[in-house]
Amino acid sequence: MPVIAVVGGQWGDEGKGKIIDLLAGRAHVVVRAQGGDNAGHTVVNARGKFALHLVPAGVFNADCDCVIGPGVALNPEVLLREMDALHERGVSTDKLTISARTHLVMPYHLTLDRADEAWRGEGAIGTTKRGIGPAYLDKVGRSGLMAGDLRDPGRFRRKVAEAVERKNVLLERVYDAPTVDANEIADEYLRLAERLLPHIAESGPLLERALRDGRTILLEGAHGTLLDLDHGTYPYVTTSSCTVGGLLNGAGIGPRHLTTALGVFKAYTSRVGAGPMPTELDDEIGQRIRDRGQEYGTTTGRSRRCGWFDAVAARHSVLVNGFHALAITRLDILDQFDELKVCLAYELDGRRIDYFPSDADELARAQPVYEALPGWFSPTGDAHDWNDLPGAARDYVRLLEEALGVPAGLIGVGQEREKTLFTGALP
Ligand code: IMP
Repeated sequence: MPVIAVVGGQWGDEGKGKIIDLLAGRAHVVVRAQGGDNAGHTVVNARGKFALHLVPAGVFNADCDCVIGPGVALNPEVLLREMDALHERGVSTDKLTISARTHLVMPYHLTLDRADEAWRGEGAIGTTKRGIGPAYLDKVGRSGLMAGDLRDPGRFRRKVAEAVERKNVLLERVYDAPTVDANEIADEYLRLAERLLPHIAESGPLLERALRDGRTILLEGAHGTLLDLDHGTYPYVTTSSCTVGGLLNGAGIGPRHLTTALGVFKAYTSRVGAGPMPTELDDEIGQRIRDRGQEYGTTTGRSRRCGWFDAVAARHSVLVNGFHALAITRLDILDQFDELKVCLAYELDGRRIDYFPSDADELARAQPVYEALPGWFSPTGDAHDWNDLPGAARDYVRLLEEALGVPAGLIGVGQEREKTLFTGALP
């Protein structure tokens, strides 16, 4: 009864969508466990190219149950739009379950996300402005609304009215922003609920049955460990727990059931939004990586900051998650470089360190200490197995494995599902 967690090891956008899509073909249940539509997965399969934000990638496997778990922040309007787009292309969402415990992103969360970013000025986080932070803030503040609340319109209206009363004080007096109308919001959400209610259920029994029947459950991570609220580059983080532990909790499955934790890492590094990134390349090489990798956000279209692989940050991620194996994605993007670099330590205020500092200012001052390797200058996209890769590409992967102390189970050499090499190291 495998339970497999697929987690981003860097700052998100590691190519988890493709890996999840690949593994979802063999899964019985796929669970989105945290984050919201601030996440974006690009999936390229036989049906075409899809950008998913909330629907679990198991949706392309007709036999697979897809669950939006309790740890997710769900914008119902975005979900319905995504479901409609899938239906238009012949993909069914009949097997989608939304946990009754899932918290809802409300319209005032989007307003507050924008207002808070503006308030921060120079210190803005660079959020996706999808209202995710304010939605989790209400969850922690015990004033959030859950998907299950939509089942009782009277109670839902009362809860919205209570929440709006407080939000309007905040909007008006703190942020000098327009106030919102509780009735309008409740009407709108209850209208959306007509289509969502058939999907809203207790997710526990479904998962319990799946575990009991020895079915394969895939936990689909969103964002990446370095954006994790506890372990990332605080305050430049997202507001959910993006680690293996966070996924188990967000799905509602105890750690004893986990069989495989797969850490997805790009063969280089990228980041969107503000915050320190020691290996960022603000030069022609960074631009070449961005162009070759088409590094523009799935969710916001923002251009991503690019740089060399940071093994110090990645080791932190390995520790926090306890990965059994790595999936190294987008190796093909590095096909045409004379020389490649991997950061193996930092120099901080004249001292060499090999840990990932918790202080964002320290991390911003950390200078990467690189090991340089020769490039391979030949296409890796045609490789069918490990031995087809050029020697220099294998050396590159070996260095990452050594630096992280974890074997690479999968290597991505192109966007399509088939362009994935299995090394045999996947448990
Ligand atoms: P929020 O999650 O919208 O609050 O944004 C907080 C930070 O996380 C910002 O720097 C975003 O750019 C970043 N972020 C959120 N989701 C993703 C993702 O899926 N990929 C990469 N960065 C993300």
